[in-house]
Amino acid sequence: MSDQLSVSAVRERLNTRFIGQTHQHFALTNSTQDIVTEAGRAGAQEGLIVTADEQSRGRGRFRRSWVAPPGASLLVSVLLRPGPERLPMMSMIAALASARAIRRVVPELAPEVKWPNDVLLKGRKACGILVEVADSGNDASKYAVVGIGINVNWDTASIPEIAEASTSLANETGRAVSRVDLLCALLEEMERLYLQAQGGEDVFTQWRSALVTLGRQVRVAGSDSAFQGVAIDVEPSGALVVMDDANQRRIVHAGDVTLS
Ligand code: BTN
Repeated sequence: MSDQLSVSAVRERLNTRFIGQTHQHFALTNSTQDIVTEAGRAGAQEGLIVTADEQSRGRGRFRRSWVAPPGASLLVSVLLRPGPERLPMMSMIAALASARAIRRVVPELAPEVKWPNDVLLKGRKACGILVEVADSGNDASKYAVVGIGINVNWDTASIPEIAEASTSLANETGRAVSRVDLLCALLEEMERLYLQAQGGEDVFTQWRSALVTLGRQVRVAGSDSAFQGVAIDVEPSGALVVMDDANQRRIVHAGDVTLS
């Protein structure tokens, strides 16, 4: 199976109205997030995507680096301009779309969404999402740069730092998966959800229903505190509601959550 990710291969297969219809692909770049952020600032239209075979400074949440050997992961950033009030939904849309795309392309897998937006396969992380909000000088010009990294055709056990907590599609299926098929499915699922959200449909409930975190015992590590409890709900802002071991209701806006 050829797994060349190229603008022409994607154009041939992609069935969207606008997401991915403008596409730049790089063999190597610092971070696809940087290119889309810059394009957004220069006024690029929403739907622009940037993909790369390799990133020299791929980044994840909490300023962590995002590792991916050349040509073996799906690395994509998408420019969206949903308006300020719907920005929090972009992370929900990206997580749902990633899980649905994986299931569409590899039906034997059962992806799960862990709060806020990790996609897991058999409890291990196969996909990470980083949504960065930027603007061109005022609130009304705010836009989202939605970065998605999916481990596809490589063995995550080859990197000791992530070996235990991560996996890839190939690890779970024992076969290679087409990054072009996966990208097209991802963009199609993303556009469907985005249009639903923009039409006032309830994407939050779809995301809430997909979360494996709710009802589970969790350990939360934030920038200034760490505690344990039961994840009982999420708020429309995306925040996680946890009943801690002292029976206090805690609202987690950002943090690392480990499922027990
Ligand atoms: C996470 O920490 O889980 C989020 C990882 C996001 C990685 C993707 S890969 C494509 C895009 N470019 C980046 O530098 N990061 C995101």
